[in-house]
Amino acid sequence: MKQITNKLNTLRTIGLAGIAAMLVSCSPSGQNIRLGKSTNQEVIAAMTLEEKAQLLVGDDPGFPRGYPSGFGGADTLFDSQPPVVGQTKKLVPGAAGTTFAIPRLGIPAIVLADGPAGVRIDPMRPDTTKTFYATAFPIESLLACSWDTNLVRQVGVCMGTEAKEYGVDILLGPALNIHRNPLGGRNFEYYSEDPVVSGEMAAAMVNGVQSVGVGTSIKHFAANNNETNRMSINAEIDEKTLHEIYLKGFEIAVKKSNPWTVMSAYNKIKGVYCSENPVLLDSILRKDWGFTGFVMTDWFAGRDRIQQVKAGNDLQMPGSKYIAEQIAEAVQNGDLDEAVVDRNIDRILNIIKQTPRFNGYDYSDNPDLKAHAKIAAQAATDGMVLLKNNRNTLPLGKAISKIAAFGIASFETISRGTGSGNVNSAYTVSIKQGLEKSGYGIPAEFEKAYAEHVQAEKERIGEKKSYFDPDIMLQEKNWSEAELKQFAAECDLALFTISRTSGEFADRKVADDFQLTDIEQQMIRKLSKAFHAQGKKLVVVLNIGGVIETASWKNEADAIVLAWQPGQEAGTAIAQILSGDVTPSGKLTMTFPVKYGDVPSSNFFPDPSTNPQQTDYTEGTAVGYRYYRGADVATSYEFGFGLSYNDFTYNNLSVDSLPDHKFQIELSVTNTGVNNGKEVVQLYLKSKDSRMIQLKHFAKTALLKPGESETLKFEVTAQDLAEYDPGQKAWSAEPGTYDVLIGASSQDIRLRTAIELGKQVIF
Ligand code: BGC
Repeated sequence: MKQITNKLNTLRTIGLAGIAAMLVSCSPSGQNIRLGKSTNQEVIAAMTLEEKAQLLVGDDPGFPRGYPSGFGGADTLFDSQPPVVGQTKKLVPGAAGTTFAIPRLGIPAIVLADGPAGVRIDPMRPDTTKTFYATAFPIESLLACSWDTNLVRQVGVCMGTEAKEYGVDILLGPALNIHRNPLGGRNFEYYSEDPVVSGEMAAAMVNGVQSVGVGTSIKHFAANNNETNRMSINAEIDEKTLHEIYLKGFEIAVKKSNPWTVMSAYNKIKGVYCSENPVLLDSILRKDWGFTGFVMTDWFAGRDRIQQVKAGNDLQMPGSKYIAEQIAEAVQNGDLDEAVVDRNIDRILNIIKQTPRFNGYDYSDNPDLKAHAKIAAQAATDGMVLLKNNRNTLPLGKAISKIAAFGIASFETISRGTGSGNVNSAYTVSIKQGLEKSGYGIPAEFEKAYAEHVQAEKERIGEKKSYFDPDIMLQEKNWSEAELKQFAAECDLALFTISRTSGEFADRKVADDFQLTDIEQQMIRKLSKAFHAQGKKLVVVLNIGGVIETASWKNEADAIVLAWQPGQEAGTAIAQILSGDVTPSGKLTMTFPVKYGDVPSSNFFPDPSTNPQQTDYTEGTAVGYRYYRGADVATSYEFGFGLSYNDFTYNNLSVDSLPDHKFQIELSVTNTGVNNGKEVVQLYLKSKDSRMIQLKHFAKTALLKPGESETLKFEVTAQDLAEYDPGQKAWSAEPGTYDVLIGASSQDIRLRTAIELGKQVIF
C-alpha cells in the first residue's frame, strides 16, 4: 500500500511529460529482440523499467535462515523483508546466487558460486541419489606459499572446469585482501601480507579459471581486512598506504588477468561504503586500471541502493524485489538517471554473453574429480612450509615405522576454513590415513581414544548456531606423563598436530587461538620430555588457517611442518612431505611474529569487545616484513622463509640496463643438495634513503636434480621503483640508486647489486 501511494505521489510530481516518457520505457516491446543477436542497446531499449531494475539486482534463491544478525546488511533489509524465492532457485542448489532472467529477450539467469578453495554447492539434492561433491583444494594461504603461479593457474583450470561442469557461470573468487593482522578471520582465504604476491597469485588463478570459459569475481574490493563489524566498519587509511598496499594486488590482478567481475567489499574506506564509492569503482578500477567487466556487491552489502547504482556497483547481491522496486522508483522520480541504469546493464549483459549458460553449454554434472584430486594433492605438497628440521629429523628415515600420533587433527584433519570459503568435498584424507597409506603404523588405541575424546568434546560444546559460523574449536586431549612415557617406549616418533579453524563473521583471538591453549603447551612440553628421554623425536604439524605463535615452544620440537589447511588430500600430502616423497619447497608469504604485540597493527586492529566503528591504519605501509625488517624487530619465522631437504646456492648475478628505464637482472640457482628440489627466489628493492625493503618479483625454479642449475631472469621497471604520491595522484619513481636484494627469504639475502634511475618517471 505504502509503495502504491509512493508511486502515485511520484506520478503527480513528474507530470504528463514524465508519464509519457515512462510509458515508452515501460512498454513491453522487442518481439524479435534477443541478447547476442541484437545489440545490447536494442536489448536494453526493449526492456521495461521493472526488468531493468531487476537485472541490476540478483534473483535471490532463498537463502537459508540462521545468519548471525549482523548479516542482515547495514539497513537490516534482510530481517525486515523476507527474501523473495527467486525463479532460479533450482538452477544449481547451494550456489550463492543468480542474476535475473528475462527469457523474452533471451537473457538467462547466470549462476554465481563460491569460492576461493573450490566450488561451493550442495552435494546432495532431494530428487536424486547422485552426489554433487566438489574438490576441496588447499586454502589460498597455502597456494601462495608455493610461490608457483603455474601451479595456481593449474588449480584455477580445475576449479573452472568443475564450476562449468556443475552449471556455474562465475566463481566467487579468488579473494585477495591483505593479511594485515594474524587475527583476520578470513586470512586463510587470502594469499599474503604482500600485495605483489597477492596480485600475482590472484592473476594466475583468474587466468586459470577463465581459460575454460567461466568467470571469476576478485574480492573483496577493498581493505576488507577484518571480520569485526565488517558490514559497516570504516577503514581509515591514508592514500599512499591504500594504493601501495591495499589496492596494489587488485591492480595487478585486473591488469594481468582481466577478471569478468569484481566484488566490492562490505566495509567503508574513509567514510564511504566501498559499494557506493565512485572513486574506487569508477575512477580507479575502470579509468585508471582499465577494468571492463561488472562489479557486484558482497552479499547484502551497503546501505544506499541508489548510490550503489550510481557508483558503478552494477549488480546487487543476493538481491530482493524490494531493492529492484527502489531502483525503479528512483528512476521514476528522477533521483536516478536511466542512462546510468542502462550503463550498468550494458556491463552485465556483456559478461552474460560470455557465460556457458548463455552459450548453451550442456554441463555434465560429472567433473573429473579423480584428476582434480591429484592436482589438489600436488598443490598441497608444494605450498607446505618446513619451518624447522633439526639434525635431519625429516624426512622420516627407514628406522621410523611406528608413529605415536597426537592431536585431534591427526585423525580429524582440517582441510579448509568455514563460511563461504568452505567446499563440500566427498572426503578429507586424514593425517592418520595418509601416513598409513605411506606405510607407517599408528597404534589403534590412538584413533579410538581420539574418537571418544572428540565425541565428548562435541557434547560439551554443543552445536554451532549456524552453518556459516566459524567452527568452535575442540580442546585437545591431555595425556598423562605416564601414558606418554609408555608410548615413547613403544613408538619410534611422536607426531603432534596442532589445528585451528576460522571463517567469516569473526576474527580470531589472541588467547587460545593465536597463542596455544594451555593443554597444547603442556602437551608439547610433555611430549618433548617423554620422547627425548628415550632418544626419540617430536615432529609438530600445524594444520592451521592463519598465523599462530611459535616462538615460545618451537625449541621443544625437532621438526615443524606448516601444513596449513591443505584441502581434501591433506593426509596424502602431509605424508609425502614427512616421508620425503616430495621435498618441501614452500616459503612463507606472511610473517610469523615472536608475539602478538610485535604485529605493527596490533594496537589498531578492531577489538570486538569495544564494538568498533572504525579501524585506523596507523601503521601505514609498514605491514608485515616491510615493518619487521625495516624496524629490526625479530620474528619467529620471517616472510619468505622455508626450509628444504636440500641446499641451493645463488650465483652469477648480473644487471643489464635496457631502454625505457628497465633493468634485466639475471642469476643462477644450483641445487647443491642430494635430493631433487625446487627453490623460491625473491627479488626485493630498497631505495637508498629507506630502511624498508619491498618484494617486487619472485620465481620458483623447476625441479632441479642434485648439481643442476637454472638461470632466472627478472625485469625491473620504473614502475617497480615508484611510490604513490597522493599530492599528484600519481606514481612517481625518483631518480637515484636502488638496492636490488636477491633473497632466499626477506632476511636471508644471498646476492645484492644496485641500479640507477637517471631521471624522475611519473605514471
Ligand atoms: C562473503 C563473500 C561470498 C558471499 C556469497 C559473503 O558472506 O563475504 O565472500 O562470496 O557471501 O556466499
